[in-house]
Amino acid sequence: MAILVTGGAGFIGSNFVLEWLRLGLGPLVNLDKLTYAGNLRNLSSIDDDADYTFVHADICDRDTVLQLLNEHRISAIVNLAAETHVDRSIHDPGEFLRTNVQGTFALLEAARAYYDSLVDEARTNFRFINVSTDEVYGSLDADAPAFTEDSSYRPNSPYSASKAAADHLCRAYFSTYGLPVLTTNCSNNYGPFQFPEKLIPLVIRNGVRGESLPIYGDGCNVRDWLYVGDHCDAIRRVLESGQVGGTYNVGGDAERTNIEVVEAMCDILDESVAGATPGQHRGLISFVADRPGHDRRYAIDASKIRDELGWQPTESFETGLQKTVQWYLDNEEWTQSIETGEYRDWLEANYELRACRS
Ligand code: NAD
Ligand code: DAU
Repeated sequence: MAILVTGGAGFIGSNFVLEWLRLGLGPLVNLDKLTYAGNLRNLSSIDDDADYTFVHADICDRDTVLQLLNEHRISAIVNLAAETHVDRSIHDPGEFLRTNVQGTFALLEAARAYYDSLVDEARTNFRFINVSTDEVYGSLDADAPAFTEDSSYRPNSPYSASKAAADHLCRAYFSTYGLPVLTTNCSNNYGPFQFPEKLIPLVIRNGVRGESLPIYGDGCNVRDWLYVGDHCDAIRRVLESGQVGGTYNVGGDAERTNIEVVEAMCDILDESVAGATPGQHRGLISFVADRPGHDRRYAIDASKIRDELGWQPTESFETGLQKTVQWYLDNEEWTQSIETGEYRDWLEANYELRACRS
């Protein structure tokens, strides 16, 4: 039996797929639509791996998903296929509703039909992992306690609203049909293969090129940061031993303001980029118009997954950030290879309209 990973050519998906195969955990089918965020180059090292199959398809295509579930006798679905960038969801929310809501619905329907056909051990062991985000909980005040699994859903962007809708559908499929769904709500990931529309890879890309480092608003919005490998480990643990129907918050216990993150990266770049001088990269920081509806703070209480499943992060923010900056410096051609017309159009749409404030 194999597992089905959707969105395996994206950032978290590529890291998950590579690590799964490196650990020799069994056959894996990767279904990906290859949007601008999907990149098969990330997975070229496993092209010839007998345990790996790639299928170019859309999660909204219920019939294809059901066919794959039957053909590969799938034991679990890990859904990482999504539209994921908050700013893009503000510019153009339609695709977020299609993939994140209708796509999750199509996957759930295919999974339900397949699950109903399973018997004995195959039925007992089947799992559907819904990989979600801390953004569904909305924004925290500075002194508020961190999000727990019981926090209310208060999404503020089209992206987080679409993820919240998907989470609710997953919950309903467990309650109504008994489909063995488990949900993870994770904080901000960073690491290799992240598309340079997100803060950390964008700052590395622009810093290396001597371009401005755009910080939205006053730079004091807080995110909790988790190295991508630690998130993948959390997903594997939930898949293996999580309680069916349960939800698990996943976080790095590493709250930082955006300005702290960017300044830390500037200091690493000063030390790592040949010929750079102290303070050179901080000089590129530029405050630009804020994101509409910009959540002020996210923080995750990850005590449930730590206590129940023995998970904890292996990277601190400092070690993970150093590794990440080094990966991008060592793989500059990776960043160049995705700088297609689509990417340049996005930079123009998102940044040229934001008036430079300093
Ligand atoms: P990503 O944008 O890097 O990759 C998404 C992948 O999904 C791409 O390979 C894309 O081609 C594929 N895809 C998009 N639409 C599809 C469709 N209709 N059918 C099939 N494939 C499709 O995303 P990511 O950052 O790796 O996030 C993966 C998941 O983890 C998402 O559900 C996201 O909400 C969640 N998450 C991400 C973070 C983070 O910080 N990146 C944190 C918490 C949760
Ligand atoms: O919290 C988990 C979420 O983290 C995931 O669900 C999302 O898929 C993922 O994209 C991420 O969302 P964010 O909006 O927090 O990530 P992003 O990298 O876009 O932005 C991080 C912070 O940095 C946020 O407060 C906005 C700010 N920012 C971002 C960009 C791209 C800037 O100040 N300047 C920028 O140019």
